[in-house]
Amino acid sequence: MRSLIIDLGDTHVAAGIASGARGALEAFSSVPVSGLKKGVVSQTASVSTAIQQAIEALGKDVSGLPVIVNLSGGHVEVMPTQGLKLISPKNRAITHHDVMEVVNHSRSIVLANDREQVHIVPRGFRVDGRAGVQDPVGEPAFRLEVESLLVTAHRESARMSMDALAAAGIPDARFVMGALASGLGALTDKEIKSGAIVIDIGGGVTDVSMFRDGSLAAAASLPVGSYSVTQDIAQLLKTSTEEADRLKVSHGNAYPVDVPDSATVEVQQLGQPVPRPMQGKVLAEIIESRVREILRLAKQAVENGRPGSVAGVPVVLTGNGARLPGVDRLAAITFGESAVKTVLPTKGTAALIGLGAYAAQSEEEVAPADAPTSWKDRFKGLLTR
Ligand SMILES: Nc1ncnc2c1ncn2[C@@H]1O[C@H](COP(=O)(O)OP(=O)(O)OP(=O)(O)O)[C@@H](O)[C@H]1O
Ligand SMILES: [Mg+2]
Repeated sequence: MRSLIIDLGDTHVAAGIASGARGALEAFSSVPVSGLKKGVVSQTASVSTAIQQAIEALGKDVSGLPVIVNLSGGHVEVMPTQGLKLISPKNRAITHHDVMEVVNHSRSIVLANDREQVHIVPRGFRVDGRAGVQDPVGEPAFRLEVESLLVTAHRESARMSMDALAAAGIPDARFVMGALASGLGALTDKEIKSGAIVIDIGGGVTDVSMFRDGSLAAAASLPVGSYSVTQDIAQLLKTSTEEADRLKVSHGNAYPVDVPDSATVEVQQLGQPVPRPMQGKVLAEIIESRVREILRLAKQAVENGRPGSVAGVPVVLTGNGARLPGVDRLAAITFGESAVKTVLPTKGTAALIGLGAYAAQSEEEVAPADAPTSWKDRFKGLLTR
């Protein structure tokens, strides 16, 4: 089965068609967008136009395809939940249906009025108290438990994205947490198993996820991205936003140590008739300060109140904000003992590739519980990839 997938970012809308058992991208497009701020739609009309343009640019017939879209922004959160099912009669073999039921039970949570559930990510099962069970189907048991991460969003903010999609002719898209999508898209199966942290530095949002033992262990969407770097440059060097972005992209470096003292950049300040030479190191120091903050917040998000708990877990950087030279050096310093690499797909974004993978898995997830495939296949991407 094929799906239409959409990466709704602050600076661009990327679209793709995912197909096959692993949801590989068979087509991809990207168009600039305005009207999103830190993951939240503020101008429905311009966002819906960009969505339509991105879909048109695919040059494919997408009618009737299920649609999956990422949801990011500070309002998107994950909370750990648990589900329990008592198997009756006692010691009967666990069925696919039991697994679906226990996962469903883990989402029976009452949320504040202004929040809603987005989706559930099962992490692992316990059979009669025995933890770490990956595939409980067929095991005789009395008690089946699941540990999940429930993704929730601010109702109105999610509604804004839904409205923009509806205005673009997509009335019933499903949302997936952007941080989960970026993680699935930037990591290999092996890394998801052995453990890794993904930091997707976008324009307005930095999506962070951590995977351990084949499943999502933590995720957050930070309402700060590379646009904040641009704003800092504009403010401190007294330039327009456009000039600040040009300075960042063409001459920026997040690691001032790597910039020679003699390096200068021509800066066009507001109200000045001609550009003025400035030290490249000064530009780098402005950038460093904000990027350091983003990385520190990313680390805090995956540490989950337990400082030091992610020591040595490899870090993968992605998102166009990670194109800045030196971000990897700062990440290596921030994360201490972790190996750091940057993954920038040539075809699509990490989020888009991850949405494709998710689309392929969740198709199986929603298959009838008594389908002949094992539940493990249906949940494979979330637990055992
Ligand atoms: N070569 C580059 N060097 C440094 N920064 C860059 C480069 N190219 C793009 N950027 C910055 O990357 C940011 C956009 O990143 P990206 O395209 O990943 O964001 P997005 O997916 O549209 O938004 P978000 O994920 O925040 O919703 C912009 O702030 C832009 O200035
Ligand atoms: Mg993005």
